[in-house]
Amino acid sequence: YNGNTSQEQIQLHSLVQQLPKAIIIGVRKGGTRALLEMLNLHPAVVKASQEIHFFDNDENYGKGMEWYRRKMPFSYPHQITIEKSPAYFITEEVPERIYKMNSSVKLLIIVREPTTRAISDYTQVLEGKERKNKTYYKFEKLAMDAKSCEVNTKYKAVRTSIYTKHLERWLKYFPVEQFHIVDGDRLITEPLPELQLVESFLNLPARISPYNLYFNATRGFFCLRFNIVFNKCLAGSKGRTHPEVNPAVVAKLHKFFHPFNQKFFQITGRTFNWP
Ligand code: A3P
Repeated sequence: YNGNTSQEQIQLHSLVQQLPKAIIIGVRKGGTRALLEMLNLHPAVVKASQEIHFFDNDENYGKGMEWYRRKMPFSYPHQITIEKSPAYFITEEVPERIYKMNSSVKLLIIVREPTTRAISDYTQVLEGKERKNKTYYKFEKLAMDAKSCEVNTKYKAVRTSIYTKHLERWLKYFPVEQFHIVDGDRLITEPLPELQLVESFLNLPARISPYNLYFNATRGFFCLRFNIVFNKCLAGSKGRTHPEVNPAVVAKLHKFFHPFNQKFFQITGRTFNWP
């Protein structure tokens, strides 16, 4: 022991890279980034900043658990590490792989009203095409089958919004109590109560307070205040303007998702006010 070792040095020595105790598994465009950043306001939560894509990408998964652990941020032993990779929710192999890592890991799923989520998903892809100066189909053309005039269930943005189908695959490995469903629509307008539910699910003391979240009128969203000197809003790519969609198509989608939503509510015990 070096008599000059400062408290700070002692603390630095106890920093470790820990496997996640909770994972935000999806859903893409549900508000996964906002949820991760907001949970990170909690002093006991440390986030993996990047999407790691360990369990959904065969090449990454092949690198092994130690590779994954080394992608994690440094934290103190009492803290919990959280990562988010929204593709996990919809990828076939992922539940089994996560189960093999830690069968008692806590799983967070943030959902939005399924039609809104599908349009948000489309908007993100559209923006990518436009950036490359490519043209892209209209949402209506992708979401509807031209021949049958019914919802096109082959379209990925539609499939991803059939939450119950994906959840049912996960339930082959994990009991329903191991999941917590976050209301992504409410996280936009009223984040604190949603975050408090998550704190409770993670068995953390309630530490995120109204001080940590302020509405930024210019941005049109809540932003994060960590302390007196550090605050931030999410990137501009979060909160895009959605294109207007033909109301008849919207109505068809609402009707299409309705029975799947009912099943999802029944399984999860969380009901949302979706059309
Ligand atoms: P839109 O771009 O459709 O508005 P994800 O991080 O999973 O890709 O989700 C993106 C969505 O997070 C955005 O969808 C946005 O509405 C939502 N969101 C929730 N809270 C937000 C916040 N405080 N700031 C910005 N976007 C937020």
